[in-house]
Amino acid sequence: MATLRPRPGILEIEPYVGGRSAIEGAARAIKLSANESALGPSPQAVAALQAAAATCHRYPDGGAEDLRAAIGARFRLDPARIVCGAGSDELIQLLMRAYAGPGEEVLYSAHGFLMYKLSALGVGALPVAAPERELRADVDALLGRLSSRTRMVFIANPNNPTGSYLAADELARLHRGLPEDVLLVIDAAYAEYVRANDYSAGIELVDGADNVVMTRTFSKLFGLAALRLGWLYGPPAVVDVLHRLRGPFNVATPAQVAGIAALEDLDHQERSRAHNDRWLPWLAGELSRLGHTVHPSIANFVLIEFDHECMRSAAAASAWLERDGIIARPMAAYGLPHCLRLSIGLEAENHAVVRSLGAFARQA
Ligand SMILES: Cc1ncc(COP(=O)(O)O)c(C=O)c1O
Repeated sequence: MATLRPRPGILEIEPYVGGRSAIEGAARAIKLSANESALGPSPQAVAALQAAAATCHRYPDGGAEDLRAAIGARFRLDPARIVCGAGSDELIQLLMRAYAGPGEEVLYSAHGFLMYKLSALGVGALPVAAPERELRADVDALLGRLSSRTRMVFIANPNNPTGSYLAADELARLHRGLPEDVLLVIDAAYAEYVRANDYSAGIELVDGADNVVMTRTFSKLFGLAALRLGWLYGPPAVVDVLHRLRGPFNVATPAQVAGIAALEDLDHQERSRAHNDRWLPWLAGELSRLGHTVHPSIANFVLIEFDHECMRSAAAASAWLERDGIIARPMAAYGLPHCLRLSIGLEAENHAVVRSLGAFARQA
């Protein structure tokens, strides 16, 4: 008897497991497992969201006209070259469906964002991981893995979970090394947090070529992760393809109106950035002082490497943090079983982390 079988690749997907938000038996937990905004959403975005509740019998504006205009105004981009999606995750999947398929390769950096591998498998393409150097993407290694079957190259800049980044000139060098029929996807989900002078989110690369796109999200600095809102800036031909492929109403009205309000609230954006500017170096510094290995990060999280030895392992540290009500993100799915990732939290949460990992270091 014939059995029902999904397309090749799909059963190889280990379903993505998001950061946990609760600890069994605990009434409250400090959730630092999903790189969310410490300060939460703009009150103006919340008000817009609440107002939208009354019109939820209406379909959304499928073209997200006002939202694209607001993104264009804020980032000085042509709205006609912007596509909105249900999170940047949806845009990654749409790009994959549009440009990769069975027998073709999708290239990314070894500890790059997990969705590249999962969505490549989802379309039957072969995920190819290029080795990194000290947890940083390596342009030469990426270029060295190109083959005649490579269709797309994904680079998260800054990268989740490592927190590292490629400087603008390195990113440009990566692009220069790609054939014109290979699409470079620059995933700049954390761009709003970055202060490094040699960093670029990649807009000038998109402007100068037909084979580069940049994806962004409202889930991080803008604090709207639950609404699922992302956007992409790309060449007209890619934008046209994505509009054909996307669902006609892929971005819900509450997400659209909250996104516009969040963009308008510059004070809230600045507060969120200033919070990260203060607590990212503080947390990294305090944890290093305690003897933990903290990888340099320019985003809103840190990656901490623990010993391989059982008492001092990442698993032991995770369990210890959990006893103190703190949820970190284990990194085995990223091939980093000795690491934990922690988001930058509120002041009291960051202090709680340092207290907990201080006690962990002393006992281990
Ligand atoms: C590098 C990177 N890209 C994309 C995403 C997905 O974000 P979104 O919430 O917009 O789907 C994340 C989420 O953690 C991320 O870390």
